[in-house]
Amino acid sequence: MTSPEELRAAVGAVIDPELRRSLGELGMVESAEVDGTTARVTVLLTIEACPKRSDIDAEVRAAALAMSGIDQVELTLGVMSVEARKALSAQLHGGRKAEDRFGPTSLVRVIAVSSGKGGVGKSTVAANLAVALAARGQKVGLLDADVHGFSIPGLLGISDEKPTKVEDMILPPRAFDVGVISIGMFVDPHTPVSWRGPMMHRTINQFLSDVYFGDLDVLICDLPPGTGDVAISLGQLVPTADVLVVTTPQTSASDIAERSGLVARQLGQRVIGVVENMSDWTDSNGVEHTMFGAGGGAEVAARLAVPLLGTIPLTPSVIAAGDSGIPFSVGDPADVAVVAFNRIVDAVIESAPKRGTASIPLSV
Ligand SMILES: Nc1ncnc2c1ncn2[C@@H]1O[C@H](COP(=O)(O)OP(=O)(O)OP(=O)(O)O)[C@@H](O)[C@H]1O
Ligand SMILES: [Mg+2]
Repeated sequence: MTSPEELRAAVGAVIDPELRRSLGELGMVESAEVDGTTARVTVLLTIEACPKRSDIDAEVRAAALAMSGIDQVELTLGVMSVEARKALSAQLHGGRKAEDRFGPTSLVRVIAVSSGKGGVGKSTVAANLAVALAARGQKVGLLDADVHGFSIPGLLGISDEKPTKVEDMILPPRAFDVGVISIGMFVDPHTPVSWRGPMMHRTINQFLSDVYFGDLDVLICDLPPGTGDVAISLGQLVPTADVLVVTTPQTSASDIAERSGLVARQLGQRVIGVVENMSDWTDSNGVEHTMFGAGGGAEVAARLAVPLLGTIPLTPSVIAAGDSGIPFSVGDPADVAVVAFNRIVDAVIESAPKRGTASIPLSV
């Protein structure tokens, strides 16, 4: 037979899908009693309108029913008191500033995906990189810093999802095991955002400080095109970010792509390499698909003196994926674009700053 303590432990081991911690650790299991073959459990949700209510309900029931001698579950889903919620917010988040969470002392790797020109595939690269790193076991957050032209929610099929607010914390929706935040989740999709620099700075700062991604290995930031306010804000808030420059093979795009890398460097950020997107390719029947020519990526990489991390072909599979809300990188592993992209993911992982290997200077 199951004891109330065993029942509490089993229910407490269920993971809250938004907070990514166990219900026990979060203090959400209010009571757990065993009455004959019935488990009577009360779980306190963070807020009444918890979007993951039905998931938590199902998982708690399943956990209780898995215990020996239990064949019925009476589950009450209540709501935490304001005090409990404040304590939880302080426990998880502690009102830390952007600099504390992602600055020089943080172990989270921040990768900003930038370009000079618009429409070269930054958001496609950022979304797919986030999803691919998560698929390889990394804990990943994705911040859509393109305030005016946000496109990340659509690329990941979560255009209708809203973040949950728990006191000072914003809990981001999750897709493909990635926590995702975008201004698109806060505004009417049909109303253009017409903000100026200071407002955008505040928003990026708030995303970096108030969004609770949970434990992170990597935060990917999708930047708007160019070297404007958002790139500078991110550079000021996260000067230790790594920057990935995306360009097309068109050599006429090289100058402006190079400039985005140079601005990042001026802000103190490290340019880890260049990705050439929309490159020519040859299909399995030997048919060549040419569009923008060749050489742009290598040229930008040479000018910035960084590696060309790889090229992504311009293929129908990438276009279709962008429209479907399912990233192309989770598609057929034999697809040319997926094979090419996986090499880029390897190179990005390889380019991570080596931590703890610096020698300690001796002073006498
Ligand atoms: N390798 C590719 N093959 C085919 N289509 C692609 C490829 N990469 C991106 N696209 C398509 O090109 C369009 C622009 O891509 P994306 O939105 O990622 O660019 P962006 O640089 O983020 O644009 P913006 O500057 O507007 O933010 C999208 O419709 C996308 O699906
Ligand atoms: Mg974009």
